Parts: sequence; C-alpha cells; structure tokens
Amino acid sequence: MEKFNDGDIKEVIYTAEDLDNKCSELAERISADYDGEIVVVGILKGAMPFMIDLVRKIKAPVIIDFMDVKSYDGTTTTGEVRILKDLSVKVEGKDVLIVEDIIDTGLTLSYLIEVLKSRGAKSLNVCTLLTKPARRKKDINVKYVGFEIEDNFVIGYGMDYNEYYRNLPYIGILDERVYK
Ligand code: IMP
Ligand code: MG
Repeated sequence: MEKFNDGDIKEVIYTAEDLDNKCSELAERISADYDGEIVVVGILKGAMPFMIDLVRKIKAPVIIDFMDVKSYDGTTTTGEVRILKDLSVKVEGKDVLIVEDIIDTGLTLSYLIEVLKSRGAKSLNVCTLLTKPARRKKDINVKYVGFEIEDNFVIGYGMDYNEYYRNLPYIGILDERVYK
C-alpha cells in the first residue's frame, strides 16, 4: 500500500507524547474549574481520540455524549449546519463542555453553541485541541485551547483526509502529493 499510510506525512507537528502532555494540562485546568458534574459532548468523528484521552484525566464526574454534524461551506457567511446524530442526554440545567478536534472557520461550533444554549445548558464551554485563528469567520469564545496552528491541513489523532489517517497517534501535515 503506497497511499494512506504514515509515509504520506510531510512533517509531524505534535508527537503522541506532546498530545498526552497537552491532555494532562487541559484536564487539570478543567478539573480545577468544575466542582460538579460535566456533560462532555464530543463532536464526531474527529474529536473521538482527543475526548477519550481527555476525559480519562478529568477528576470531576463526567457524562459522555456525542453529536455528529455536517457543515456546508457555502457562499453565505452564516454557513449551513445539519445535525446527523443528536445527543442522547438532556443538557438542560447542566454544565456542558463541547470537545472539538480543530476549529477552522468556526461555523460548525458557533451553530452548536446556539443549539445547546437554546436547550437550556446551565453553562457552556469549549475545549478544542487545535485552532487555526487565521481562518476564522465566526468569533467564538473558546475557554480551553490545546495548540494554535498555522493554516495547514493537518491529519491524525482523529483528523482525516478523505476519512483516512484518523488512527495515527500523532498530528502531522499531509504531503501535497497525496491530494495532487
Ligand atoms: P469549521 O466549521 O470550519 O470550524 O470546521 C471545523 C471542522 O472541519 C473540524 O471539526 C474538522 O472536522 C474539520 N477540519 C478543519 N480543518 C481541518 C484540518 O486541517 N484537518 C482535518 N480536518 C479539519
Ligand atoms: Mg470536527
């Protein structure tokens, strides 16, 4: 197999060890900030590995749930987002923490924040592993950020190119020859 393996990576930007350390750091901050139960909402599929590592380090009672959304990067700045899989727990009156792999334009997240607010979450915070501030179209208040990155297409540790590479234990920049 030539394609879709870790030989396609131009540069590793965060090793498995970097990611583990970052999860510990974020979980420590989260544990200090919450004293009661947290409903942790992972956005499928990309946030899965990060969320699994993060919640195991959080020292507050945690309820885990998932949402799957599809965003259409159309011509409007509002962006159209559709819910493919909704939560199975109620968030009304709960402290909710949305976990994302990466924030790019911010359209997906700003939509989700509005949805969960309208359902009456008591508090709503966001924890993202990565953010690309240069690409932001919607301003979002993100309390927990792992790393700020440049405008590169990254894969691994949940993030994909055509659904591949999500299982890589590190984050890397994809070699251009893969998509050319
Ligand atoms: P946004 O709505 O533009 O913020 O899009 C966010 C979603 O796009 C993320 O949750 C990712 O699933 C995906 N995404 C954005 N940038 C990248 C990238 O560099 N690699 C892989 N997926 C990305
Ligand atoms: Mg995502």
